[in-house]
Amino acid sequence: MIEVRNLRKVYENVLALDDVSFEVSEGEAFAFLGPNGAGKTTTIKILMGFIYPDLGYAKIFGKDVFRHGKEIRKRIGYLPEEMGFYDQLSAYENLNFYARLFGVPKAEREKRIEESLERVSLLERKDSPVREYSHGMKQRLGIAQSLINNPDLLIYDEPTSGLDPRSSYEIREMIKGFVKEGKTLFLSSHLLYEVQQICETVAIINKGKIVVKDEIKNLSKMMSGKSIKVTIRCLNLNEELIERAKKVKGVRRVRIDGNNLIAMVEDEETIASVISSMVKAGGKITSVKEESPGLEEIFLKLTGD
Ligand SMILES: Nc1ncnc2c1ncn2[C@@H]1O[C@H](COP(=O)(O)OP(=O)(O)OP(=O)(O)O)[C@@H](O)[C@H]1O
Ligand SMILES: [Mg+2]
Repeated sequence: MIEVRNLRKVYENVLALDDVSFEVSEGEAFAFLGPNGAGKTTTIKILMGFIYPDLGYAKIFGKDVFRHGKEIRKRIGYLPEEMGFYDQLSAYENLNFYARLFGVPKAEREKRIEESLERVSLLERKDSPVREYSHGMKQRLGIAQSLINNPDLLIYDEPTSGLDPRSSYEIREMIKGFVKEGKTLFLSSHLLYEVQQICETVAIINKGKIVVKDEIKNLSKMMSGKSIKVTIRCLNLNEELIERAKKVKGVRRVRIDGNNLIAMVEDEETIASVISSMVKAGGKITSVKEESPGLEEIFLKLTGD
């Protein structure tokens, strides 16, 4: 569904992409993982036909993204890094604007807008101006916007960035639902535990270069045998929540320090399970800090850096 070959992009004197190639098949949930400045957004802008590469090409649905951009974008749901809305207009009016841009026929618009808002639990707030929306609500509205044209392919650029654990969790659940329905997903993120929950394949990009392309489960295997130390800050930490965390498969040791639950766990998947079991039991998690070995260690291993 996506074919990217030998992309190179130089901004003035920054080499943002250096010989980037990958493919994404139909129905696949593909993670594009990398730290800040790695080249994720640059790659997405090329896929969307917004900027030209210096070398290489990108094809989506078998067609060149520059020659057939308009036709291709009709079938893509795109969530940019920073979504722009008209603040004084309501959520409904903003989506109506996007629906018209996408050429959704008038007779279908209302239904399509309401369905999209329903998917992200914003239907009740459809008439509020966007300036009254929280960051999390705006992000959900961005997701509603990406669904307005009933796309086959979703391209999401760090959909949970800046969100609290509960909002991130909700957005991840939504995205998982879209994948289940058969949409193809290209998900850019810098969070390994996030992409592990949603995607089956991953390409890791670092300093403009793809350093690994593999199934996520193989990456997890590479990291197995080592413990990850994770500090989960929970405002209402209590015995029940601690017991829940201890019971999660893969948790090796737990100690408590004030509102912090500090655990040694088997892998990143375990961190995700601990967080979701605590959130489900009403835990108010405000931060999760992961210490070695995490994504950095994988980078170090793969780049010898
Ligand atoms: N318009 C631009 N002009 C000059 N340099 C740019 C421009 N856009 C990006 N860069 C540089 O290109 C590199 C890749 O940036 P890019 O935005 O693609 O990274 P990213 O992986 O999306 O990072 P983040 O996780 O912070 O969003 C960085 O070094 C960045 O500073
Ligand atoms: Mg970016």
